[in-house]
Amino acid sequence: MKIMHVDASAKRERSNSRALSRYFLERLREQGVDLEIDYLDVTIDTPPHVTEAFAIATYTAEHDRTPAMKATLAQSDALCKRLLAADAFVFAMPMYNWSMPSAFKAFIDSITRGGLTYQFDADGRVVGQFSRQKTLFITSRGADLRAGSPYAAMDALTPALKAAFGFLGVAEPTFVDAQPLQFADPEARTAALQRAHAELDAVASSWASVADSSDEDLTAFSGVTA
Ligand SMILES: Cc1cc2nc3c(=O)[nH]c(=O)nc-3n(C[C@H](O)[C@H](O)[C@H](O)COP(=O)(O)O)c2cc1C
Repeated sequence: MKIMHVDASAKRERSNSRALSRYFLERLREQGVDLEIDYLDVTIDTPPHVTEAFAIATYTAEHDRTPAMKATLAQSDALCKRLLAADAFVFAMPMYNWSMPSAFKAFIDSITRGGLTYQFDADGRVVGQFSRQKTLFITSRGADLRAGSPYAAMDALTPALKAAFGFLGVAEPTFVDAQPLQFADPEARTAALQRAHAELDAVASSWASVADSSDEDLTAFSGVTA
């Protein structure tokens, strides 16, 4: 399984979301899934913010683009191709000010590209190109924004991710939200991490069973017997 793994926390060794994304990949390996990881740390290799040149080039039809426009889009083209080549996405990030880290937003702005990650069908409808990729979002939050908490209505992160990736064809993303990890007592933080680990264990088992059955399908299709 080829996974595009993206981390977005400003923290490094002390980051919860980074630790949780590593935990998930370890569980998948333990389940015997053969992993090929394409890793991107958007806090180091931050895609450029949208510039005027990008905004014009991206909405210019491909056959009308000048060499300068093509050069402007080259980095984004390459990133889109990396994502299109993946079978699955693991995106890990903290909540910053109720939404996503700006580096991850820059990533979304780079990978949302007409003609690449979304196309138009004959009726002019948008067809997102990530319908085959399994998608896991791991988010870490300082506060508890679960249903019933006073902060629940402040969650601008989940809907923003659903909208951006839904547009690109991700119909059923999985969310594992670790919360509360900062603005809570130590017991509540420990319980939040335990819940997140248990949820990640379940997602890893589910991905592993799908990986197993697609291996079987491929074997049957190619007529190869064990
Ligand atoms: C700049 C900044 C803004 C934050 N804003 C929020 C917020 O709006 N809501 C929240 O619940 N936690 C917020 N937090 C707390 C983090 O989401 C929390 O500590 C999370 O576990 C960090 O993930 P990490 O350990 O992977 O960096 C913020 C933290 C920072 C550094």
